[in-house]
Amino acid sequence: MNKLAYLVLALSYVLRAAAVDATTAATPPMGWNSWNHFACKVTAGDVRSAADAIAGNGMKDAGYVYVNIDDCWEGSRDEKGRIQPNQKFGDMKALVDYVHGKGLKVGIYSSPGPKTCAGYEGSFGHEEQDAQQYADWGFDYLKYDWCSAEKVYQRRQMIDVYKKMHDALVRTGRPIVFSLCQYGYGRVWTWGASVGGNLWRTTEDISDHYDRMSVIGFDQDGLEPFAGPGHWNDPDMLEVGNGGMNHDEYVTHMSLWALLAAPLLAGNDLSKMTPETLAILTNREVVAVDQDIKGVQGRRVAQEGPLEIWAKPLADGSLAVGLFNRGESVNPITLSFKDIGLHGSAKIRDLWQHKDLGSYSGSYTVDVPRHGAILIGVR
Ligand code: GLA
Repeated sequence: MNKLAYLVLALSYVLRAAAVDATTAATPPMGWNSWNHFACKVTAGDVRSAADAIAGNGMKDAGYVYVNIDDCWEGSRDEKGRIQPNQKFGDMKALVDYVHGKGLKVGIYSSPGPKTCAGYEGSFGHEEQDAQQYADWGFDYLKYDWCSAEKVYQRRQMIDVYKKMHDALVRTGRPIVFSLCQYGYGRVWTWGASVGGNLWRTTEDISDHYDRMSVIGFDQDGLEPFAGPGHWNDPDMLEVGNGGMNHDEYVTHMSLWALLAAPLLAGNDLSKMTPETLAILTNREVVAVDQDIKGVQGRRVAQEGPLEIWAKPLADGSLAVGLFNRGESVNPITLSFKDIGLHGSAKIRDLWQHKDLGSYSGSYTVDVPRHGAILIGVR
């Protein structure tokens, strides 16, 4: 795309996005989702335990608020077509009230198709009714997952399909965060906000492996013009603490998601978390990078082989900078201040360690572990 076309696209996008209510998801949504750990085994008890954990272990204070039920809660419809939860969930209103009672919010999941990705009842033909049911139960968040919609719609109808559910949610009168999940099809970032999406998945599913997480995360470069208050790119939920990556790899995951202003939806079993996992999820200076009110998504500013530097401008005029080593051994990485638009000297702070490192002239060099990351504040 030439520069002018790009500018026109970006401008039209900004104007459209300005029309979106930016009070919902003014910063990237934070919370927990059942899928990455529990998948289809999830029960109401697991959701209650997650809410207990968030409210009691410091996560709520760190900003985690949504407790989101993913697929596999659905039962059948009653004689009036109303969706019922399955036996693992029982009384949905009681569950929602329980989570609300902890001062948290709660999310639910459906598909515009006849079936969800796991083969449960979807919302096809029942959009209004389902939106109203979610509102009546008291839900605050809906993840709407394309899945079998592929069988009943053409992909070009996707915009209308998502808009239909958004309109139905709006008609309930309840503010409900609208999470689009269709794996980035049709460059969703160019139209997600126009159908009321507060976040939209940009990729197929993450898994708890460094290779998969890093391919997704480092591939987000270029999507930053499309994110902002009220509407975020979603590179999928966190795998931190699920056991498939080592400490440095989870630090990379969390640092990168923070720089990307990505939704921070923990995906582990919060009731059985190690202190190390909790420390990664709740590091205040790292979370603050993600939640910065300027709402700018970071981007790659330098790369040399497996070494990458990403930067995110923050509301206070400083920058958060991530130095990432995707290589197989420890490597020094040098940040040249000119790559982030700074000249002369700058003050560096290690955000993970909460340590001021002093003033540096022209550049800053640090050893970064294999598959690891250093996240610094630069001003
Ligand atoms: C899709 C989504 C996942 C999850 C599952 C549930 O794969 O991308 O995030 O919601 O469906 O079946």
